[in-house]
Amino acid sequence: MADKDSREGKRYTNPAILDYVNKTHAGHDAALAQAFAVPDGIPAIQVGPSEGQLLYLLLRLANAKKVVEVGTLVGYSAIRMARALPAGGHLYSIEFDPKHAEVARKNIAAAGFADRITVHVGAGVDVLPTLEGNGPFDAVFIDADKQNYDKYGAWATKNLRSGGLVLGDNAYLFGELLDDSDRGRAMRAFHEHGAATCDSVCIPTPDGLVVGIKR
Ligand code: SAH
Ligand code: DHB
Ligand code: MG
Repeated sequence: MADKDSREGKRYTNPAILDYVNKTHAGHDAALAQAFAVPDGIPAIQVGPSEGQLLYLLLRLANAKKVVEVGTLVGYSAIRMARALPAGGHLYSIEFDPKHAEVARKNIAAAGFADRITVHVGAGVDVLPTLEGNGPFDAVFIDADKQNYDKYGAWATKNLRSGGLVLGDNAYLFGELLDDSDRGRAMRAFHEHGAATCDSVCIPTPDGLVVGIKR
């Protein structure tokens, strides 16, 4: 029987189903478990296991070698993505908070990626221009301060190769995407610039994940 419900936005998931599919497709080994277990005093706002696995698969599909991340936290998504890179590939990950960066570097070293991931401490808008000489990049994953997504997206499409990926977490902005607020406007500009410069979609993860292929 044809299913109208899912086309109208009804979801069939529940916590037990999500747990099952996370475990089946996107489980944790010791290194991922360490980076997923955010210490007390640092917010547990990393991507979910299935989103992390999706980032890994997308980078493999795109044959990504040089990748930029804005928002490291303690390295969970960085380790997921670094596992997609070939020998000689590199992930440049930017983190504003030095305490987060310190934990991230430990987790990254424990995962065996000390030489394949560089954590740059600073604000995205300040650090991104310093990375331009390493480009063009194969993918840019944006997951930091939401009010600057418009700037991060514009930087990404300027510094990606044709066919490169722009990826943006929290694209529903915690349900506030349509709000009349600075970060609502910035997130909508990110969507609209992405759609104008890429073949794109917003995947309905819990908080939305924009995926664009630069034209
Ligand atoms: N990508 C990570 C989660 C990132 S959470 C993962 O999935 O594992 C968002 C991070 O962005 C936080 O660690 C926060 O300190 C950082 N952040 C906030 N403002 C920033 C800025 N202006 N520049 C860079 N990082 C920033
Ligand atoms: C927050 C940030 C994120 O990137 C996220 O995925 C969830 C929450 C936050 O700042 O609260
Ligand atoms: Mg996020």
